Amino acid sequence: MTGFRSMKVSKALEAKAGQARIRGWIYRKRSSGGKLFIVIRDNSGTIQCVADKSAVGAKEWESADSAYLESAAEVTGMLKADARAPGGAELEVKSIKVYNSMEQFPITEYQSPEFLLDVRHLWVRSARMSNIMKVRSHVFRYAREFLDKHGFFEITPPLITKAAGETGADMFEVNYFGQKAYLTESSQLYAEAMIYSLEKVYSFAPSWRAEKSRTVKHLAEYWHLEPEMAYYNNAKSMALQEKLISYIASSVAKRDRSILETLGADIQSLEKIKPPFKRISYDRAIEILHEKGSQKVWGDDFGVEEEKLLTEEEDKPIFIHNMPKDLKAFYMPISKKDPRTVECADMLAPKGHGEIIGGSERISNYGDMVARMKEKGLQIENYKWYLDTLKYGAVPHAGFGVGMERVIKWMLGLDHIRDAIPFPRVINRVEP
Ligand code: 4AD
Ligand code: MG
Repeated sequence: MTGFRSMKVSKALEAKAGQARIRGWIYRKRSSGGKLFIVIRDNSGTIQCVADKSAVGAKEWESADSAYLESAAEVTGMLKADARAPGGAELEVKSIKVYNSMEQFPITEYQSPEFLLDVRHLWVRSARMSNIMKVRSHVFRYAREFLDKHGFFEITPPLITKAAGETGADMFEVNYFGQKAYLTESSQLYAEAMIYSLEKVYSFAPSWRAEKSRTVKHLAEYWHLEPEMAYYNNAKSMALQEKLISYIASSVAKRDRSILETLGADIQSLEKIKPPFKRISYDRAIEILHEKGSQKVWGDDFGVEEEKLLTEEEDKPIFIHNMPKDLKAFYMPISKKDPRTVECADMLAPKGHGEIIGGSERISNYGDMVARMKEKGLQIENYKWYLDTLKYGAVPHAGFGVGMERVIKWMLGLDHIRDAIPFPRVINRVEP
């Protein structure tokens, strides 16, 4: 029909009167007494459309009546305020065109989580997933917004590499035209190379981890935000991290309020996320764990259980800093205060959501770096270019990596990290 204004559902619900054309998908449908009640959804909301058999053509009626849920439809008609209708208005249908109604939608009311993962390509349309994906998109934007405001440049690292950024033990191998290469586990080393030109940079890209973990916080492919800053030490880096996380939390709480309400997220808790975050040394963390009955001894790594014990009473994330050097990567400088430890910090989300950031100062002295690499048993040939960066104008610097799905999982209170990403890659799943 011509002359009808194409409108988002949210705008139509606001207008409550006048003509409208809505384009979306059939979300619900029922018929009663010669009328069809069709709820159409688009990316802004849902609206009830009421078609009277006598008001639309026979062919249109037939195609609407037989249309399967999730078929696309374009509906034109008159908006009418109606307190009983969800959203306070409905559309009296003048014309309805259904596109490509082919088969019954396979997702019905009660489905197992496994089945929903099998049909993830369709489940992403659900109200819950749509809402999470909106927040995800916004969280990515808030992070970039913050870094832009703080004078950072976004850089784009290569994702196929020969250099292990972390342990190297858990990388996916790639046959690169006959050469052995890997999907990157961190873009840090490339970000470091870029600070000598742009000083404050961040890379925002996927990282891959081939670790055989089956926990609610592990993905084999995740989105990794990695800022790197020239002339920063560990303390200055921690100060930046708490500001970044607080900015994201308060932005989500304020700007995504209604979605958060729909998802049942804890908005009050997010509003409390403000600097400073507690800084707990590894030594102190071991003491706290003992006080709570843990058997961990100095030198042990922390797992899910310890992260939970350390954060169960916290409202805000905490830092665990100056960890044992044997637990950490080659590029972290030995601490002057205690040479058994390195200048690093992990940020743990409150209430057992686990590590959301790993960061550290970086070794900027060539000789120290080579010595640490040898100690860690790394193949120096693969790091030639990285070592080169230390030969020319190296300066003290620091950086950190944020696991974005972990941040989203925590902020939205999700049970599993897989719901923080549209198509999760976990150990037993590489499809769809
Ligand atoms: O602690 P990680 O391994 O540190 C690094 O990769 C550093 N090179 C980062 C840097 O300094 N530029 O990883 C950083 C963060 C973790 O704190 C966690 O939030 C996330 O990445 N992460 C994962 N997220 C989802 N699934 C996994 N398997 C993850 N492994 C790490
Ligand atoms: Mg870590």
